[in-house]
Amino acid sequence: MSNEAPAVPSLAGGASTKDKETQLREQQEAESKRKAYREKQEAKRKSVKFDDKDQPELSTKQQGKKAKKEKVELPRKRFYRQRAHSNPFSDHRLEYPRSPDSMDWSKFYPKHFDSEQGQMNKKVEIADIGCGYGGLLINLAKEFPQLLCLGMEIRVQVTQYVEDRIIALREKYAKDKISNYQNIAVLRGNAMKFLPNFFEKGQLLKMFFCFPDPHFKQRKHKARIITNTLLSEYAYVLKEGGVVYTITDVEDLHNWMVQHLNDHPLFKRLDENWEKQDKCVELMWNSTEEGQKVTRNKGSKWIACYERLPTPEDCD
Ligand SMILES: C[S@@+](CC[C@H](N)C(=O)[O-])C[C@H]1O[C@@H](n2cnc3c(N)ncnc32)[C@H](O)[C@@H]1O
Repeated sequence: MSNEAPAVPSLAGGASTKDKETQLREQQEAESKRKAYREKQEAKRKSVKFDDKDQPELSTKQQGKKAKKEKVELPRKRFYRQRAHSNPFSDHRLEYPRSPDSMDWSKFYPKHFDSEQGQMNKKVEIADIGCGYGGLLINLAKEFPQLLCLGMEIRVQVTQYVEDRIIALREKYAKDKISNYQNIAVLRGNAMKFLPNFFEKGQLLKMFFCFPDPHFKQRKHKARIITNTLLSEYAYVLKEGGVVYTITDVEDLHNWMVQHLNDHPLFKRLDENWEKQDKCVELMWNSTEEGQKVTRNKGSKWIACYERLPTPEDCD
């Protein structure tokens, strides 16, 4: 007789099969819960996006009653999970306007649409490129209540999360004196492809590039959001005196962005004193989701800000 403890293959095997089954069932349940949640949010998103500007304005009292009746819930990020990276060169079947004139911004900023004149009363002036989950955008809404800010994001579900977040904030703060979040919106788009289709020459005051995807491998560097060619497009849509803001936790990417911006004739680096007094530098340091993650992990952050120089006359 052996002194060894009896092996329990059948029990162990049974338990692991059961575990797998349970795991699978739980995964399926979680997926259908996510799907149901997203479908509900999508129905709401569509009704707000397409009806809002035709809805009669509610009085302050009516808005208060509505907010009380429907407790406003912010969207839950876990229902909008998506792979971290999206290939900026693949065909995403993106919709984009023929030219900035043909872009219908009224669905994005319904409260800034003048229905009598049949046109927007403001243009987008601040762009957060690759806005992720929208932390910076939400803060820009309060910092620049008079300006329209746009987040551009390539990932579908991340864009939908930001859309739902903005819809909820607009409901929740409908009566807020500082910001009712009607000045921010998000657009699903590839900033590397169609920017001049959305923005006119010299339209933007500020462009943010916060924690862009680093694309570490050398053969992937061409997918970086700052390249010579793209900088010329950014210079085109920026006003003279406008600012490009960059921040990253990857030193090599920081050096890359600095080198490309330094080499470009239409950008000049702003110094540390300027950075210290600029409110947006503080916002991009603290308020993006990626930046907060870096802070939690005690990582480093590198910043570089550049002014858009006047175009030399002979290039006009
Ligand atoms: C690392 S995340 C940073 C997100 C956000 N800026 C932050 O700081 O939390 C980079 C984001 O840029 C988006 N992105 C990458 N390439 C893009 C492109 N060509 N156009 C628009 N968005 C892009 C990604 O989907 C991702 O959400």
